Amino acid sequence: MPTLTNKRILLGITGGIAAYKCAELSRLFTRAGAEVRVVMTRAAQEFVTPLTMQALTGNRVHLDLLDFEAEAAMGHIELARWADLVLVAPASADFLARIAHGRADDLLSTLILATPAPIALAPAMNQGMWSDPGTQQNLAEVHHRGYRLFGPDEGDQACGDVGPGRMVEPAELLAGCAELFSGEPLAGRHLLITGGPTREAIDPVRFLSNHSSGKMAYALATEAVAAGARVTLISGPVALPTPDRVTRIDVVGAEEMLSATMERITDADVFIGVAAVADYRPANQTAEKIKKDQVSMKIDLLRNPDIISEVAGLNPRPLVVGFAAETGDVLANGREKLERKRLDLLFANNATETFNSDEVAATAISAEGEIEIPRARKEAVARKMLGMIAERLSAAADTAS
Ligand code: PMT
Repeated sequence: MPTLTNKRILLGITGGIAAYKCAELSRLFTRAGAEVRVVMTRAAQEFVTPLTMQALTGNRVHLDLLDFEAEAAMGHIELARWADLVLVAPASADFLARIAHGRADDLLSTLILATPAPIALAPAMNQGMWSDPGTQQNLAEVHHRGYRLFGPDEGDQACGDVGPGRMVEPAELLAGCAELFSGEPLAGRHLLITGGPTREAIDPVRFLSNHSSGKMAYALATEAVAAGARVTLISGPVALPTPDRVTRIDVVGAEEMLSATMERITDADVFIGVAAVADYRPANQTAEKIKKDQVSMKIDLLRNPDIISEVAGLNPRPLVVGFAAETGDVLANGREKLERKRLDLLFANNATETFNSDEVAATAISAEGEIEIPRARKEAVARKMLGMIAERLSAAADTAS
């Protein structure tokens, strides 16, 4: 089944009998993981109702250029920015003519001019209209602009004619749209990432923790989505907003982080342990706030479960990627952790320079050797790290096939 995980598809429907196929098309898009928003021209509403499309996509259908419900009444700009792909299906002869001439006299034609997203068209019309030199000239113009064309197919037409002009079937359109994104290095992959610190409660107001800000994990989550992945981020307490299109699960302690991980690991292709998990937790958490009536006090600590080792012990297991923030001999300590925890790849970084910083330098350590990643903003370093992960995934897929 083709995948459109996390993709935002703006489906433009124009007036033609093939408009009824958009009900099936939007259902296929949604099943493939996409979010679908629909824009209908006035003529399209004669063939299929906005209510049908709203029920199938779960989103309000957009009909008017001047939309008083949209922020600043500029629905066309919001939608144009929102989309990862604009697909017009069916694209009628009239609509082709209007966009070939750069018209902007309704919502759909206006957002075609405004969008930075790729545009695809699935023409559908009578075979005579399709073959007309005017239509062919309009088609050549939009093709020249880089719009992607799907079809049309040949065959029986609703009007009784036989020839070219049938809209491509929904399943084929789904495959064609998925293909447009297939060059993304992590397309269709699910990444499970832990990030931030854990907090281990001593009493109702005090805890043991560390200085992790979550910045590295959140940068990886953001960049993984941009590379086409579906991302689940299991986050300790941090003060960062959830990255766009990331599923975030908030946890506090190491044991909670372990359960959240194990509940979601089954369909993960990659596990990345970025979290600075507290190695120990207080053996007893007191119900009442501890009074400071002693000159000194002792807290008994218990060893926390090692989350990444639990994941590495699964069979089958995802690609397991660890981090190590070290002082002293960063590389030797990192390699020791890679081997002891049976990881596929580990990024070692210097603890004194990394925690809560916007930048990081790291060394990728694996069985094959070491690769330096020079100091840069965490987003840029995350892109390099994900490149290495994507290479390993495709090498593993090549070996399996
Ligand atoms: O959050 P930032 O401020 O951006 O900082 C980023 C970071 C410094 C937290 C990050 O770059 C980093 O290095 N994270 C790992 C911290 C660390 O030193 O972890 P560790 O050496 O305790 O553990 C090694 C690996 O085992 C890590 O992948 C860790 O997530 C995992 N681990 C550790 C203990 C435990 N109980 N369970 C685990 O899964």
